Amino acid sequence: MDAIDVIRAKRDGAELTPDQIAWTIAAYTRGDIAEEQMSSLAMAILLNGMTRPEVSAWTQAMIDSGDRMDWSSLSRPTTDKHSTGGVGDKITLPLAPLVAACGAAVPQLSGRGLGHTGGTLDKLEAVPGWRASLSPAEMLGVLEETGAVVCAAGTGLAPADRKLYALRDVTGTVESIPLIASSIMSKKIAEGTGALVLDVKVGSGAFMKTLPDARELAETMVAIGTDHGLHTVALLTAMDRPLGNAVGNALEVAESVEVLAGGGPSDVVELTLALAREMLAAAGLASAKDPADALRDGSAMDVWRRMITAQGGDPLAPLPVARETHEVLAPATGVLTRLDAFGVGVAAWRLGAGRARKEDPVSFGAGILCHAKPGDKVTKGRPLLSLYADDMDRFPRALESLDGAYTIEETGTPDLHPLIIDRIT
Ligand code: URA
Repeated sequence: MDAIDVIRAKRDGAELTPDQIAWTIAAYTRGDIAEEQMSSLAMAILLNGMTRPEVSAWTQAMIDSGDRMDWSSLSRPTTDKHSTGGVGDKITLPLAPLVAACGAAVPQLSGRGLGHTGGTLDKLEAVPGWRASLSPAEMLGVLEETGAVVCAAGTGLAPADRKLYALRDVTGTVESIPLIASSIMSKKIAEGTGALVLDVKVGSGAFMKTLPDARELAETMVAIGTDHGLHTVALLTAMDRPLGNAVGNALEVAESVEVLAGGGPSDVVELTLALAREMLAAAGLASAKDPADALRDGSAMDVWRRMITAQGGDPLAPLPVARETHEVLAPATGVLTRLDAFGVGVAAWRLGAGRARKEDPVSFGAGILCHAKPGDKVTKGRPLLSLYADDMDRFPRALESLDGAYTIEETGTPDLHPLIIDRIT
């Protein structure tokens, strides 16, 4: 086969065969297809899309480029969740131990954050001593012992995706829905989970800004899962305002621990319970213990503590605190009718909670606490947002991104997506 024929076929709107796709991904991974050729093919895919058979074959080829995890020796069924990412999205932290407390095993291979949405590993690394890198044998040990493991995906999983994603990032081809869907699903299928629940976020703070795009992404990922024999369900959920009150690594860990202690913001609790019920049902454990009971009776908190300890962390140690604080006061009395997720996410990132380049460190204490959410009454001169950073110089740029990010009206109701917008199977 020849890379130029494959590029020409896609450019001219033909459907690529499974053999062409398998050859292309394998040759690219080996270095036999040049970056400029793959870049051209990715652009042809972005412009012309992919059919369902093409996207399934593309995903299979990326899975075949590396290792596949095997959890068949575990005594419990495995189930996992993937979120497309959002501002204040700390749901994995309470969710993984909660689902484990209800009888499933959660093998979650996660990533670090880049840009305004935080990464789960960055959040967990705020816990003193906690370690993200585990060998496959250690992963299996933690899973067997505690029921949940959240750790860094090794370089052996879908290496074709790693290479292709870096190329897409610099060639304006990240936004292709079939390429996003196959990228996410190749890693999740290679991770070896028995069931998968996708949390596809919609709104300003999400990857997908509009409902039609989010729906198309969710449907494409569910179709890929189904074609690979993986029980996959997707929820479309709101990301037009931040999730919960805390945005930033240690702040989000603290909020997650509140949820595990039976408290926490109502939206975080509602979404955690909805995803937990979906994960258990997808794993065939619908009649297991109800997740709300596992939050009430402390069993989810017990798993959290065991899971953190098993990865070297001290669940009772004080979390890092930023050196400097700045309060944003409500400029008027009334109802907060808008708090834009993107504005808050960029502000938290500029405070140091996120990174601009892959190799940058994050500040664990940096971030934002929202004292009101859309629909809440606010009083002029009272704190609306608390900003945290290690360095005072961070505040002016963070405040710039909050300029225009919220609206207070005398009366009114926010025009927001419902927290859980739809369910796709
Ligand atoms: N996340 C991924 O893993 N892949 C994409 O293509 C986009 C987001």
